[in-house]
Amino acid sequence: MNAEVYPAGSAAAFDFQVARKNLHDCRFVAPALPPSAPLQADEVQLRIDKFAFTANNISHAVHGESLSYWQFFPAPEGWGRIPVWGFAEVLASRHPQVREGERLFGYLPMSTHLRLLAGKLSERSIQDVSAARASLSPVYSSFSRVLRDPGYFPARENEQALLRPLFMTAFLIDDFLDEQAAFGADQLLLSSASSKTALSLAFLLRRRRRGEVIGLTSAANLEFCQRSGYYDRVLAYEQLPTLAASRPTVFIDMAGDGELLRQVHTQFGSRLRHSCRVGGTHWKQGQIQQDLPGAPPEFFFAPSRLRKRQQDWGASALEERYTQAWRPFLLSVGGWMRVVPQRGLAAVEKVYRDALEGRTPPEVGYILSLA
Ligand SMILES: NC(=O)c1ccc[n+]([C@@H]2O[C@H](COP(=O)([O-])OP(=O)(O)OC[C@H]3O[C@@H](n4cnc5c(N)ncnc54)[C@H](OP(=O)(O)O)[C@@H]3O)[C@@H](O)[C@H]2O)c1
Repeated sequence: MNAEVYPAGSAAAFDFQVARKNLHDCRFVAPALPPSAPLQADEVQLRIDKFAFTANNISHAVHGESLSYWQFFPAPEGWGRIPVWGFAEVLASRHPQVREGERLFGYLPMSTHLRLLAGKLSERSIQDVSAARASLSPVYSSFSRVLRDPGYFPARENEQALLRPLFMTAFLIDDFLDEQAAFGADQLLLSSASSKTALSLAFLLRRRRRGEVIGLTSAANLEFCQRSGYYDRVLAYEQLPTLAASRPTVFIDMAGDGELLRQVHTQFGSRLRHSCRVGGTHWKQGQIQQDLPGAPPEFFFAPSRLRKRQQDWGASALEERYTQAWRPFLLSVGGWMRVVPQRGLAAVEKVYRDALEGRTPPEVGYILSLA
């Protein structure tokens, strides 16, 4: 930890920043605009209460430049603020339809505060319509007004922050594969099977009974994946060669490990009917080769699929389907996930460093607070 450091529990405002070119370098600094600065018309000042932190957030930092994640929350030259999902409260408002004390869920920075330019209000959501966000995916600029959300349960806020955005990705992949009749595959292979996104997807795929749902994971996480009960079968990465290469297979890749991807494509060849690139948990092994045997890898970008389904089904039908899928999943997660709250600067920095190095146990779901 360097730069300006505030004592834990103080009422000071600060941002957590990472060096864009060296994610191991991080610091806490005072925000450029103090939360007490006067609000302009339609501006809303939020106090960030808590947020989840998983490998997904590390991936956002790794791809901060290429996928524009650094653009959501401005930082000084060379530094970035990692986006996270969490809850915030309206501290002050100059928008006539946003009241102080209202609770919101959305895409936030790792900070104590955030200021929005509120617009496009509905009963269910508020958008940040500031000019800086104009070119960014609107999914990330929408803040849910939680009391109007049928999928919100006050006692399960932590599970919502940890899993709901990841489960949305899983829901969209499951829907995509169903639309494509799983490309004729009867073997559905998921890497980084212990990740929350893979577990969410395994839960959904298994319910469809389209094919055997097989998880690939590190030897250390094998038993955890088996215990989740979401997979038909789980193998350690080293056991990949034991899998029947004669069966038509779809690969859903959360690991983003270039060597593993090459192995899967080589092993299944033309029987690899679809190769879906979703994540990059093994971000240090990222070198992806071109011209691999079998179906070429295709990147799955959840916001694009979400937009498509919003157009096809309409926003409320989509939400209805999503909520129906989410509820039984939420009821099942107590069997494998342990929520671990952490508060204060030192704790947040430690969780960040552990996630960066892949030291977070898969059963742990961190909920962080800087306040
Ligand atoms: N494309 C999209 O739209 C989209 C949307 C949502 C999520 N994602 C991606 O899905 C991935 C999973 O995210 P998550 O939040 O679900 O992850 P998570 O639950 O935090 O995943 C933890 C697991 O990832 C692996 N891992 C994490 N860090 C590692 C490291 N440094 N080295 C090696 N393995 C590491 C380990 O799994 P194993 O031992 O099983 O490998 C670990 O148990 C992320 O890359 C995320 O960005 C993509």
